[in-house]
Amino acid sequence: MDDRPIGVFDSGFGGLTVARALIDLLPAERFVYVGDTGRYPWGSKPLEDVRGYAIEISEWLLAQHDVKMIVVACNTASAAALDDLRALTDRPVIGVIDAGVRSLLRASGSRNIGVIGTVGTVSSGAYQHAVAALDPDIRLTCAACPGFVEFVERGELVSDQVRVLAQRLLAPIVDAKVDALLLGCTHYPFLARTIREVVGEQCTLISSADETAFQVRRILESTENARRGAPEPPQFLSSGNRHEFERLGAMLLGPEIGHVGAWEGK
Ligand code: DGL
Repeated sequence: MDDRPIGVFDSGFGGLTVARALIDLLPAERFVYVGDTGRYPWGSKPLEDVRGYAIEISEWLLAQHDVKMIVVACNTASAAALDDLRALTDRPVIGVIDAGVRSLLRASGSRNIGVIGTVGTVSSGAYQHAVAALDPDIRLTCAACPGFVEFVERGELVSDQVRVLAQRLLAPIVDAKVDALLLGCTHYPFLARTIREVVGEQCTLISSADETAFQVRRILESTENARRGAPEPPQFLSSGNRHEFERLGAMLLGPEIGHVGAWEGK
């Protein structure tokens, strides 16, 4: 039994999709979530910058909250920094890419699959490598979707503008006729209604959130580090506008958002 919290972070609201799955699957755990809305978006920045942000936040979670595990609830940061973060600590550091790829391969019958993500994630090659390592013969189509994250961060989840952008950016995915599409950015599940409309019902949409939460539970159980005891409200911190995080976060995640604290870095 380990009473310490689990640290979770993202550039902003996207990691709330993972936080939702973690809270639901592991209600006895304590969570500290950092949303770096003051510096979002990460997906259009050089991977070197994202690596720096991820290291800064992880060091802070370890030093200030003595977290027992870090969940990198961001594909771009997982692609840019997972190995560096693992070098910081001997505590488990979990990214979202491997979990997403496992779910994606399980969901596909035709072995013709797609991944969408930020420019940083897609150009890093992280998904291309992860898929090829598990199944070198599978047909993978990747598409970067610049602009999607900005719509989510504004709380604009369904609109004509989102649909027009989605039709343009998802054209390679539609043309490739994939039967399973991984939403390889934790912000994208919030746009699932529009994405589904554009790619069609024959294509299964996969989010890495649930599989990541199951992986966290497996690790806690196998190391006997799960927390027992009465649930405690998760703690949310933002480096940007805290009131906006409370308002939009409550809409996206639910009532657990509560009061949002300021994250001021190291
Ligand atoms: N939610 C993040 C991801 O999964 C980052 C999005 C961004 O800030 O551009 O990649």
